[in-house]
Amino acid sequence: MVAVFMSDDTGEPEVELEARLEERETFEPPESFVEQANVSDPDVYEEFEENWPDCWERAADLLSWDEAYDTVLEDGDAPFYEWFTGGELNASYNCLDRHVEEGAKNRAAIKWEGELGETRTYTYGDLLNEVEAFAAALRDLGVEEDDVVTLYMPMIPELPIAMLACARIGAPHSVVFAGFSADALATRMNSADSEYLVTCDGYYRRGDALNHKEKADKGLRGVENDVQTVVVDRLGDELTHFLGADAHDYGELVADHEGASVEPVSRDAEDMLFLMYTSGTTGEPKGVKHTTGGYLAYTAWTSHAVLDVKPEDTYWCAADIGWITGHSYIVYGPLALGTTTMMYEGTPDYPEKDRLWDLIERNRVDTFYTAPTAIRSFMKWGTEYPERHDLSSLRLLGTVGEPINPRAWKWYYKHIGGEECPIVDTWWQTETGGMMITTLPAINEMKPGSAGPPLPGIDARVVDAAGEEISAGEAGYLTVNDPWPGMLRTLYRNDERFIEEYWQEYSDPDADEWVYFPEDGATVDEDGYVTVLGRVDDVINVSGHRLGTMEIESAIVGVPGVAEAAVVGGDHEIKGEAVYTYVILEDDAEPSEDMRERIVAAVEDDIGPIARPEEVLFTPELPKTRSGKIMRRLLEDIASGDELGDTSTLRNPEIVDEIADQVDSGA
Ligand code: WTA
Repeated sequence: MVAVFMSDDTGEPEVELEARLEERETFEPPESFVEQANVSDPDVYEEFEENWPDCWERAADLLSWDEAYDTVLEDGDAPFYEWFTGGELNASYNCLDRHVEEGAKNRAAIKWEGELGETRTYTYGDLLNEVEAFAAALRDLGVEEDDVVTLYMPMIPELPIAMLACARIGAPHSVVFAGFSADALATRMNSADSEYLVTCDGYYRRGDALNHKEKADKGLRGVENDVQTVVVDRLGDELTHFLGADAHDYGELVADHEGASVEPVSRDAEDMLFLMYTSGTTGEPKGVKHTTGGYLAYTAWTSHAVLDVKPEDTYWCAADIGWITGHSYIVYGPLALGTTTMMYEGTPDYPEKDRLWDLIERNRVDTFYTAPTAIRSFMKWGTEYPERHDLSSLRLLGTVGEPINPRAWKWYYKHIGGEECPIVDTWWQTETGGMMITTLPAINEMKPGSAGPPLPGIDARVVDAAGEEISAGEAGYLTVNDPWPGMLRTLYRNDERFIEEYWQEYSDPDADEWVYFPEDGATVDEDGYVTVLGRVDDVINVSGHRLGTMEIESAIVGVPGVAEAAVVGGDHEIKGEAVYTYVILEDDAEPSEDMRERIVAAVEDDIGPIARPEEVLFTPELPKTRSGKIMRRLLEDIASGDELGDTSTLRNPEIVDEIADQVDSGA
């Protein structure tokens, strides 16, 4: 068992907060919010508990089923749980057709804004037409039910369109974050045995046109299958790209299939809706499998209950669709509920640091959902930017992806929410599909820094190494002791690893008792509020992005001259955690600026700029235990500037001071 990595509440930008807010530890949901909330009856917790697992029908009822399910939960082959078995449905029908049929044809489904300021609005009618046209095109290219289609695209409307087109014909999608490298694309396509890729020519970042197609082409050279590629022309004349023999122009395909009518394929509730690769303890990314019925019901339910989404809202989750947050809470949850979901292509500080607030004001956004790392940047930039705008349309705020420090929470509450919006601090993971631990915004009081109680129907606990529940205030490990509809079903084509990664630690297979282990450390207070401390495995969380230290290490040891590398997360003022790398060179190699640059470039090439090391430290040795294990804990302490823990078990204690001196001197 790995030690709990306690990250304390340090590293917050120095920001003025009034003493009044500084001292407050709890906040009540505002009356104006409670009055209009989707879920405001506190009995919901009891109802779910008493009727579990049938309580989940309440989530399934938010969807339209082609065929009613027979069983809510099938647990005969645990932990390979099945939900809503016998049921059939189509996700694109649920996100599009049924709203059009109910008269919402002209309601905006997606409001998109490009970085340079251009806007596009797709009504539910428009979106359905384009999804059908592209679904027809995909079929013509040969895509069949259950073929995995890889989508490697930035935040442009064609990404959710392609996702829904895949869902319509029963082809699972595998979205690869556009910021990931060519190599990362190739690894994921090979792992999923994918023969289809939808990508684009490029996109804007801080006003510059980035060439994305080049990266995709480079990735394709590492893919074993012959791949059919579709390329969206995002940049027009700004960037001319070459369409090879196996590539098709998205615009032409859609024009050729305009007006096509494509029947949504009835999918079994347990059929795969999508794959999403995420980082784990080993270097190999994990293909998390989500299914149609349980996932869609769960994202719709949590969007309804936690994000309080209503069809007439303009709702904005400022994540990237390349991560699970964007899948669940930009695309599937909000569209299943028929609301207007916003998408923004670019960075929050372009052309100015008030870009997001300007977007909220112009679009009269009701709900805003973002990551703590973004909030810490806003704090650093100062209150003058939100103050330039009328943010009174906001009703609810949310955060996700990493722990939020109370100071950032309070800043968000005051300067963005005007002290009138509840904040939901939502703990969940790629694997959980949707939110698991958070306050219900109209029911629970909020405690800044603590995500809150587990949602109704979710049996999350904080336990010690032996699996026993711990007392309030002590640090332990988070577990989930009952299944839930949005859970991953397995790791793609790797049931064994699925068990090893998530179910080995705390389950008792002989007694058929299965406990899910998310690999997070946590504490719980006397009211049952959970504070999540961070990962206890070799995963780090940089700006809310999940990265595997092993993946980064293997990129670094690929650089000629590098003998060994250790990568850890160290506290970072804005990013939460940053990548710190400790490198041992081979005898004939010398530490140099050039070497440092090659190491950084290797990480960017293998994974992407998000994994870019904050610091590269050359060291003659790494702190190791007598049995030869690298003491990561110490390296983390050094990176975070924390007091160093016990070094007495080390084989080479002197190296610790040597490395720490280097860090202090900024070398
Ligand atoms: C962390 C993102 C504290 C946690 C949805 C988890 C959080 C990992 C919170 C999953 C939160 C997510 N408070 N920590 N509200 N939300 N995390 O798979 O360590 O990209 O295990 O899913 O992010 O990251 P993932």
